[in-house]
Amino acid sequence: METLLERGIPIDAINEYSAVEKGRGGRPPHWEMVFWWTRKPLAGARAVVAASLLPADAYQTPEQFLNDLFPCRNSRKTVHACNPAPRLVEKMRGKKVLDPFAGFGSIPLEAARLGAEAVAVELLPAAYVFLKAVLEFPRRVKPQDVEKWGRWVVERLREEVKGLYDADIYIGTWEVKCPVCGRHTPLVGSWWLARVRGREGYERLAWMEWRNGRVEIRDLNEECRKEGGGSCDELRAEVSTRGEEGGSVVWRGRRYAVPLKNIDARRETAQCLHCRAEINHRVVNGKLVKGKKSEGDWYVKWALRQWNANYERYLKGEITLDDLKNSPARPILLVKARIENGLKFQPAAPQDVDKLWKAAEELKKTWGDPDIPTEQIPPYGNIGSGLRFPVYAVDKWYQLFNPRQLLTLIKLVKLIRETGRLAEEEKLREGASREEAKKYAEAITTFLAIALVRYVDYNCVTTRWNNGGQQVADAFSTRGIAMTWNWGDVSPFAYISGTGTFQINLEKLARVVTYLREALSQNTVSRVILDDATELSRLEGERFDVVVTDPPYADDVAYAELSDFYYVWLKRALSGVEGGELRPRFLPEAFFDEFGLEIPTQWQRFAPREVSENEGRWEHFGMKVTFADLLSRAFSNVVRFLKEDGLLVVYYVAKKPESWEALIDALWRRGGMTLAAAYPVETEFEASVVAMGKASVLGGYVSAWRRRAGERSLELDAAWEAAVGEVARRVEGRMKMVGGKNGATAWVYYYMAALEYLTAHFPVRMGGVELDSGGLLRAAVSLAFDALMRAAGVRLGDRAGYAYLALRILESERGYVDSDGLAHVERMTGMTHVELARLGLIREAETGGPRVAKRKVFEVLAPRSDAVDEVRRV
Ligand SMILES: C[S@@+](CC[C@H](N)C(=O)[O-])C[C@H]1O[C@@H](n2cnc3c(N)ncnc32)[C@H](O)[C@@H]1O
Ligand SMILES: [Zn+2]
Repeated sequence: METLLERGIPIDAINEYSAVEKGRGGRPPHWEMVFWWTRKPLAGARAVVAASLLPADAYQTPEQFLNDLFPCRNSRKTVHACNPAPRLVEKMRGKKVLDPFAGFGSIPLEAARLGAEAVAVELLPAAYVFLKAVLEFPRRVKPQDVEKWGRWVVERLREEVKGLYDADIYIGTWEVKCPVCGRHTPLVGSWWLARVRGREGYERLAWMEWRNGRVEIRDLNEECRKEGGGSCDELRAEVSTRGEEGGSVVWRGRRYAVPLKNIDARRETAQCLHCRAEINHRVVNGKLVKGKKSEGDWYVKWALRQWNANYERYLKGEITLDDLKNSPARPILLVKARIENGLKFQPAAPQDVDKLWKAAEELKKTWGDPDIPTEQIPPYGNIGSGLRFPVYAVDKWYQLFNPRQLLTLIKLVKLIRETGRLAEEEKLREGASREEAKKYAEAITTFLAIALVRYVDYNCVTTRWNNGGQQVADAFSTRGIAMTWNWGDVSPFAYISGTGTFQINLEKLARVVTYLREALSQNTVSRVILDDATELSRLEGERFDVVVTDPPYADDVAYAELSDFYYVWLKRALSGVEGGELRPRFLPEAFFDEFGLEIPTQWQRFAPREVSENEGRWEHFGMKVTFADLLSRAFSNVVRFLKEDGLLVVYYVAKKPESWEALIDALWRRGGMTLAAAYPVETEFEASVVAMGKASVLGGYVSAWRRRAGERSLELDAAWEAAVGEVARRVEGRMKMVGGKNGATAWVYYYMAALEYLTAHFPVRMGGVELDSGGLLRAAVSLAFDALMRAAGVRLGDRAGYAYLALRILESERGYVDSDGLAHVERMTGMTHVELARLGLIREAETGGPRVAKRKVFEVLAPRSDAVDEVRRV
């Protein structure tokens, strides 16, 4: 049966709906529960799942399909907010959908919402817990129940942390003992506290200064109010910044200097605020030297390592509190703020810092308590695109928290555990069966545990203070966990908008549960399964109508290591404690192995099985499995569970032609499948930090695959003309569909047409040699280019003309191509970028954007010839 997905879906409209989900106010409410990487927009997932299950002729027009998919599309921007039309749901009854890389569950959620039976598989326990909360638990509890138990926790917590907080937020950092003058100096990553733009001037301007050996605050709104004369809600000030740090402000004719940061970890240097000495010393074998960069550790890093060692020695009772305070490095609070019409900042006094030490004393009494996350963080370095472990001298998870943060989180864990017990008892008293009562308590506890881990994300020493947004930037705001200066330490009860305090997180839950209950109101069962896509032993014997999935992309995210940040807390909140150890209680399969033994961390157990590629893991585990191998292994396994005629639909991020190699290899060469359809789709990926600085963004793609009918070999040289004709026909159809799209994105879409043609055959030979997956991809680029020329009716005399044309297709709106785009041009024309530069067609340029995203781009130069004018028409 040909499906609607193969016949064609209105992808532009669907992408527009998906794009709304990335913006403010457009996000699905349950995404606010907690951060997860590369979640897929619900609108797109719904359309793709439905179209892969529907016959090609299910709808007469694309409009009818959209109306049934998103009945509120004419009245609301967020089309995911309403359920599909009953007429469509009826067609989905009894269909089974599998997502073996389920993540946060966009695909299974939409499958369930469509009325199909969804099975979500995940390797990682942390994701498994979140999937349970998204797909199963909303049916077990009412929003009021979550609210009620949340309130209970908050009330008890108020008692428990009395005296620990007297402000809503503290901004802290690390200070080190200066190797020159011996005093402790704060390391300040930015002196700005508030730099909030208004319509014409600044709504809020405040920063810190260093005076008389301590931090003072300069708050221009406050000064304005004291001076009187005009409104102080918007200051007519001129602000200039140097880089992001420091700068100057001119206001009412006065000029103020904002200090420059005194720490530069990348260059491994800092400055003492007391004696102004440069701190670039090294420590070699425990000795301080003014040495070369290659020797030993930078003093600051060494000092932080001493802090962590002393932190543990103090908690174990091996050293005194004074010893701990005297460590070469220690946490310090710079500022505290209360919410009074916006934030009112005050310098943190020694009494404020004392609260950290008081918390340390209380923690010390509980050392050995299994609620302190003493698990190891991965000892290996590079874990993928721009993410690094270990975080600067941190080797255990609890070290990511200052003593007060840690104490509050541990108290919360205990209260949530207690709530689980009380909720179960209450249900039993009300006459529920043991099983019902336990299921209810499990769901309540899980939601509360999720509110906790989101608070963890906003209340640790790898957060940042966002002076423009007046909020804490959570640890995962850069997708990874990185060492930072100026972290936030927030009260669990504060209402700082955009900051996930425990109180705020709880209040979101009721809305989340309401939303998910509505989404899951079709009476189908969704199942969440903790398993490995390369195994799927729990599904043995089952067959699915379609598999729709979104596998990891090479080294983009190290899921196991990063989400341990959540895992170590989820495990505690959801397990019991007995005899000083964690014991199975709720979702025990996530935290204990088949012998009932606690699973310390995800990375230790699952990282080697994660479908991705990672040098740190290779070294640590002494393995070397490529992403392509793992992906292949997973897909050849997954295909076993697909009905004979079913589609395998895969989300994938396309960059250079070679980035498709792993997928093509897994599905075409090893999996016996043929590409049946492909679409460019809006994914969350494009919004990521890494993509921002690119000259052209080749976004995500959805490709649909079927089993290949028998072996059909192809001699490509002989069949070239016919192949070009066939692909040109397909390209013509697509040119209309991609209308306004970015040239590069449109190009990959055409290139998919060539792949469709080629993957229908196996083996494919060229010049007598059988093509491997890389060879097939290269052939597809030339084939697609020839076909595009034919579809557009272009014939050019010289190679340069073709090269120019290829560049024009792939350039961004501003006239640049990045190296991924250039790889396509090289394949299209057979000319290297060196040749292209020699012909004067491109010139190397620098991108702006954040440092992590800086990459090589080339400016496309524009010789205007006749050939080129002809080309312009295309
Ligand atoms: C790109 S994410 C999926 C995101 C999801 N589509 C969403 O919208 O939230 C890929 C997921 O695959 C999971 N994964 C990696 N290796 C796996 C394996 N061997 N078996 C099952 N899941 C795996 C990762 O933990 C990750 O959550
Ligand atoms: Zn000094």
